[in-house]
Amino acid sequence: MRVLMSGGSGFIGSALVLHLVEKLGRQVLNIDALTYAANPLSLARLEHDSNYRLAEGDICDFSFVNAAFNKFEPDAVIHLAAESHVDRSITGSSAFVRTNVFGTQSMLDAARLYWQGLPVSCKEKFRFLHVSTDEVYGSLGDDGAFDEASRYDPRSPYSASKAASDHLVHAWGHTYGLPTLVSNCSNNYGPRQFPEKLIPLTILNALEGKALPVYGDGLNVRDWIHVEDHVRALVEILDRGKIGETYLVGARSERTNLQVVQAICDSFDRLRPSWGPHGRLVTFVSDRPGHDRRYGIDPTKVERETGWKPRKAFELALEETIAWYMANENWWKSIRLDIYQGQRLGLLP
Ligand SMILES: NC(=O)c1ccc[n+]([C@@H]2O[C@H](COP(=O)([O-])OP(=O)(O)OC[C@H]3O[C@@H](n4cnc5c(N)ncnc54)[C@H](O)[C@@H]3O)[C@@H](O)[C@H]2O)c1
Repeated sequence: MRVLMSGGSGFIGSALVLHLVEKLGRQVLNIDALTYAANPLSLARLEHDSNYRLAEGDICDFSFVNAAFNKFEPDAVIHLAAESHVDRSITGSSAFVRTNVFGTQSMLDAARLYWQGLPVSCKEKFRFLHVSTDEVYGSLGDDGAFDEASRYDPRSPYSASKAASDHLVHAWGHTYGLPTLVSNCSNNYGPRQFPEKLIPLTILNALEGKALPVYGDGLNVRDWIHVEDHVRALVEILDRGKIGETYLVGARSERTNLQVVQAICDSFDRLRPSWGPHGRLVTFVSDRPGHDRRYGIDPTKVERETGWKPRKAFELALEETIAWYMANENWWKSIRLDIYQGQRLGLLP
C-alpha cells in the first residue's frame, strides 16, 4: 500500500511514518513544510529506506500537492499537517486558519481530482483519513464523555480551525463522494513531541531544574493517550473504518494537569533522587484564556468496529517518555537553544 501523508515530520506524523514503514512495510510519501514543529532527526533513520520519501512543501500550495499525488499515485491519504498548539493560536490565528482550513481544502481538492481519475477498482479502495482532535467538541462538565454524536463546540482558534477542517472533509465526502474518514483523538504524549506542549515542556524544565508552570488551578482535565496507541488506531481506522464515519480515539486516562506534572515529578524523584523533591519546582501561573475545563473520550465505537485497544498504561508510559527525553538530548537540545526556550505563549496583552 502506498500512503501519502501530510505532516509526517511532526510528533504524531513521525510515529506514524515509522510504524507504516518499519512495522507494516508500506510505502510512504511524506509532504511536510518542515515548520518550527518538525524535527528532521525524528525520521533520520529512514534516510536510506526505499519505502520512505519526503517531499518538502506547503499543503496550501495546490500545484505542489497536486503534483505529489500524480507522481506518487497513492492508495490512501492520511492528513495530519496542521498548526497544533492552542497557545500559539491565541497569540496569532492566521497560520492556523491558513494551514488547517485552506491547507485541508487544498489536500481534499488534490485528492478528489486524483481519485476521480482512478480506474474503478482503485477508486473503491482509495481512502482519505483526516486526523483531528477531541477539542472540536468544546469542554465537558464533571461527568460524561465525548462520543461520535457529540455536538461541535470549538472554543479556541486552534479547535475552531480543526472543526472547520473536519466539516470540509465531511462535505467533500458528501458532495463529491470522496471516500473520507475522520478520527478525533484526545491529547497525545510520547517521544519526539515538540517541547511546547505540557508533558515534554515539563520534562525538559524538570531536567534543567527550572520552574514547572501549571496553568490556573491545575485542575483542567485531559484524557491522555500514548502516541503509539493513537498511531495503531489510525491504521485500524484506515484499513477497517466505514467510509464517511467519524471515530473518537482515547485511552480512558483522564488526569488533571496537576496530576500529570506531579507524576512527572514522582518519576524524576525515582530516576534522579539527588535533585528531589521535584515537586518544589511546581509554579502556578495565570490561566490560558478560554481554557477548556475537561475533555474525555468514549472510544467504544473504534474498539467495537476495528478491534483496536490501547496498550500503554499512563504512568508507566509517561516514565518511558521521560527516559526517552533523558537519553535523546541530541533530539531536543538545538530546539531549546535556537527555536523555543519554553517561554509562556498565548497570554492576552
Ligand atoms: N498532539 C496531539 O495531542 C493531537 C491530538 C489529536 C489530534 N492531533 C492532530 O494530529 C495532527 C498532528 O499533530 P502533531 O501534534 O503531530 O503536530 P505537530 O505540530 O507536531 O506537527 C505538525 C506537522 O505539520 C507540518 N506542517 C505544518 N504546517 C504545514 C503546512 N502548511 N504544509 C505542510 N506541512 C505543514 C509541520 O512541519 C509538522 O511536521 C494535527 O492535525 C493535530 O491537529 C494532535
